[in-house]
Amino acid sequence: MSTPKRDEAGNVHPRPQESKVLPEQAVEERLLVILGFTGSILFEFDAEARYTAVSAPAEELLAIPRDQLLGRTIPEVVGPQAAAPFLERIQSVLTTGHADPFEYDLEVLGGRRWFRANALMVPRRQHVLFLVQDITRQKGLEQHLLESDRLAALGTLAAGVAHEVNNPLSYVSSNLNFIAEGMAEILRLLEETGRAPDPDWLKRSVKECAEALSEAQEGTGRIRRVVADLKTFGRGEDPSEGAANVVRALEGAISIARPELRFRARLVKQLGEVPRVRGSESRLGQVFLNLLINAAQAIPEGAPDKNRVEVRLREEEGRVVVEIEDTGAGIPPEVRERIFDPFFSTKPSGIGTGLGLSICHGIVTSLGGEISVESTVGQGSCFRIRLPVS
Ligand SMILES: Nc1ncnc2c1ncn2[C@@H]1O[C@H](COP(=O)(O)OP(=O)(O)OP(=O)(O)O)[C@@H](O)[C@H]1O
Ligand SMILES: [Mg+2]
Repeated sequence: MSTPKRDEAGNVHPRPQESKVLPEQAVEERLLVILGFTGSILFEFDAEARYTAVSAPAEELLAIPRDQLLGRTIPEVVGPQAAAPFLERIQSVLTTGHADPFEYDLEVLGGRRWFRANALMVPRRQHVLFLVQDITRQKGLEQHLLESDRLAALGTLAAGVAHEVNNPLSYVSSNLNFIAEGMAEILRLLEETGRAPDPDWLKRSVKECAEALSEAQEGTGRIRRVVADLKTFGRGEDPSEGAANVVRALEGAISIARPELRFRARLVKQLGEVPRVRGSESRLGQVFLNLLINAAQAIPEGAPDKNRVEVRLREEEGRVVVEIEDTGAGIPPEVRERIFDPFFSTKPSGIGTGLGLSICHGIVTSLGGEISVESTVGQGSCFRIRLPVS
């Protein structure tokens, strides 16, 4: 043993540790231990794509037992199709020194599994090394996420259809009840008195029934179009074709929303002349109806003279602008950020499903338009839609 070195002050300095160069075999052994930890598999191929070395943490990750792999070519082991990306990478690494990583699935001893592979050049030998990781679990999770995403989208779609069918369905059924009662009344009078009722009264009754009937027909038409929209959605067709008359769409929505508005507010209309816009009247009618019902629901019943819902229509900078303004409760800033999200509602369940504005947003943007809102708590809200001219 040599004595420790001292400097001039007499301090002892330990000898620097000699660096030990590990033999190649020892390096390889350690590498294999590390690979075992990471669950990775190593394959080495010569230029003819024959397996020259294999290291796998578990036999189940291989297509055939380890000792039967060596000396055979990849196509012999996994078939020509599964071998193709490997052969391509081997070629690329041997000629350019690098290759893109790739993913593949393979029937192995433990069943079908997914893998991700990176190819590297083995220095000094003309060999290519594949570092392969088993990503079956990750793939399973991705698949699961994709499916739940699709299910959620389907759920939203189904709820949206229910929402849009519900509005016309409720006035179709109330109008049919009204007609049934009217008819029963006429029949009762005819049977009881045995003579024709007062012609003026009869005319009025029949006229009211006819109006209710035509509104109900309009309602079933609307339901039919919601279902037709669903079909075109399924076929991926573009529903934004066509040239819609905005005034007609607005008037239709107003007449349906009138019973909701009657006891809450006065309706003021300022409908200027505008060109036709892209889209269909029934889809635009759906948007306006949702906004009118929201406006009505923001105003409590009982003081229709003190409250106002104003519908404005004009052309501005080559776009058609529709505004629906109310003097209702207004929307606080923290709520405003979320009102276009599906299923966001501040209304009690049974009244609001939170789908109205998300449907409006979907329709308006699909037509190349925009929807926005300005609101002051305690004073009211104004929803503004800008639509491209057809
Ligand atoms: N005119 C308005 N005034 C005040 N708040 C509004 C107005 N319009 C929408 N909101 C707010 O935005 C939320 C979302 O509206 P949306 O129309 O999407 O759903 P909803 O009316 O609650 O339910 P649904 O339309 O499905 O019956 C409402 O719950 C309400 O808080
Ligand atoms: Mg709504």
